[in-house]
Amino acid sequence: MNIAVFASGNGSNFNSILNYFKSHDEVKVTLLVSNKLNCGAVEIARKNNVEVFHYSKKSFPESDIQEIPHRLISFLIQKSISLIALAGYMKIVEPVIIENYSQKILNIHPALLPAFGGKDMYGENVQRAVIDSGVKVSGVTIHFVNENYDEGKIIFQKSFEVNVEDTVESLSGKVKQIELEYYPKVIEQVALGNYTSGDGRIFLTNNINSN
Ligand code: GRF
Repeated sequence: MNIAVFASGNGSNFNSILNYFKSHDEVKVTLLVSNKLNCGAVEIARKNNVEVFHYSKKSFPESDIQEIPHRLISFLIQKSISLIALAGYMKIVEPVIIENYSQKILNIHPALLPAFGGKDMYGENVQRAVIDSGVKVSGVTIHFVNENYDEGKIIFQKSFEVNVEDTVESLSGKVKQIELEYYPKVIEQVALGNYTSGDGRIFLTNNINSN
């Protein structure tokens, strides 16, 4: 089974996903889709000989704007991509792509949804909002992507305590540690179909917790 990661940033999640699946028998990371050629994720892909698809209006100057997402879909189909993991992808995923990959696109969010989600909730904005709110627990959420920002069905969450000494930086560090450990494992379980969705809620059927 081939997976594509969509990323626009440093690529630390992409890197951990890549390493996790390097010697996996059933799941392979075969494509990075990025709207930014000049980013850490693309550098990591090039170093590891992973194909990069530059997905930007600039790459299709002669195409009608409506046509562009279809170019990406065709490419994903041509490459037999059956699951997509967003990992710091700073571009909207067009509805037509979500329709074509219904319940096949995952995203990771650096807080416990449904709080601290939505359009401007990315990067340090999230951790600043967590601190300002005074919540005592935060964490990481991995969810399916639907047409609304951060509102798709939640697949997995992992929490930690927010203490009086915590800062934006310390929270980012706690989040990152969880993300790098758990995102690959959740992707694996979803790729292998190890989840239930009977009553509309999603539950992984295997325990992936290390503690
Ligand atoms: C992660 O913190 C993730 O939660 C968010 O974007 C960030 C990407 O970081 N969606 P990186 O590029 O993987 O280092």
